Amino acid sequence: MRAAVITGPDASPACVDFPEPVVPPGHEPLHLVGAGLHHIVRGLATGRHYGRGQMTYPLVPGIDAVARTGDGRLVYTGYARPPFGTMAERLVAPFQAEVPAGADPLAIAAGMNPGLSGWMVLTARRKEVGALGTVVVLGATGLSGSLAVQGALALGAERVVAAGRDPEALERLRGVGATTVSLAHDGPDGLERALADAVSETSPGLVLDYLWGPVAEAAFAVLGRSGEDTEADTSYVQIGSLAGLTASLPADLLRSRRIRITGSGAGSLSAEEMLAEASAVMARFADGSLQLSYTAFPLSRVGEAWAHTGRSRAVVVPD
Ligand SMILES: NC(=O)c1ccc[n+]([C@@H]2O[C@H](COP(=O)([O-])OP(=O)(O)OC[C@H]3O[C@@H](n4cnc5c(N)ncnc54)[C@H](OP(=O)(O)O)[C@@H]3O)[C@@H](O)[C@H]2O)c1
Repeated sequence: MRAAVITGPDASPACVDFPEPVVPPGHEPLHLVGAGLHHIVRGLATGRHYGRGQMTYPLVPGIDAVARTGDGRLVYTGYARPPFGTMAERLVAPFQAEVPAGADPLAIAAGMNPGLSGWMVLTARRKEVGALGTVVVLGATGLSGSLAVQGALALGAERVVAAGRDPEALERLRGVGATTVSLAHDGPDGLERALADAVSETSPGLVLDYLWGPVAEAAFAVLGRSGEDTEADTSYVQIGSLAGLTASLPADLLRSRRIRITGSGAGSLSAEEMLAEASAVMARFADGSLQLSYTAFPLSRVGEAWAHTGRSRAVVVPD
């Protein structure tokens, strides 16, 4: 079969022949409709993601996809096992959920990984405390962050603070009802001032952090400053690390308010937990409450997909 194939950690994929995936007894291979090129896909394929395990090349990249079953059903599928990733004409993955009628299959392929990242956290918090209150999204201008903002609004958050750098993307988030904060500042003082303005009104119930690094440090400083706010009960969830892999955590913050700092991602959640909300998220893409843009690349142009940057998510489709 034709597949995107990577031969080493620094190589970009090329479309070549690759063996058919191994199909467990009683199963059949799925036929690719579209596979999203998410950060985790690049990270795993190049050995830079913490979940990489033992790397062997050549491999087919891709962790999830929308695919067609032998009897013609359209499914979202995930958890493909290396070296047989999802960017191939045929794929095998243990998880399958029906794509609802009316949903754009390529938007589902592009959006489920980033969309689930925030949705899982938002729905878990809502189950825990009943109402979302004020939600802060750090890195809201990225695809995952912008879907988290849309998800928080769809799930009834009282106030959603969307923090990011790109002014046009912030403007779009303002348009959907978020309060925006510009993170286009150098140095901790500017970041702290920007975040302080945004959270001074109401203490956030939930912070979704896609950035970490200096942005998280600024957020910690601001949250710590409102010390002894006995009404505060903040869940701070670390989801991505595009601004830095480490952040220093002040001791005072943990004593000065009720705050819980956790992470959400492959490893801290089981596959079952991660996928329990898959159908709900697909329904939100189908009804338009979650929206994103994507760019489709045929398998034969997978090298261009790999090099694609910008606001839209690359989705690899069959030739
Ligand atoms: N744990 C999970 O379940 C999960 C799932 C999906 C994604 N993630 C992670 O979440 C992160 C975001 O993913 P994504 O899909 O949203 O990526 P994306 O669509 O590529 O967005 C990236 C955005 O990050 C922002 N950014 C990068 N460096 C920054 C910095 N130094 N300071 C402030 N903003 C910065 C940029 O915003 P501006 O344009 O405003 O500069 C950029 O648009 C990644 O680390 C990804 O691996 C985790």
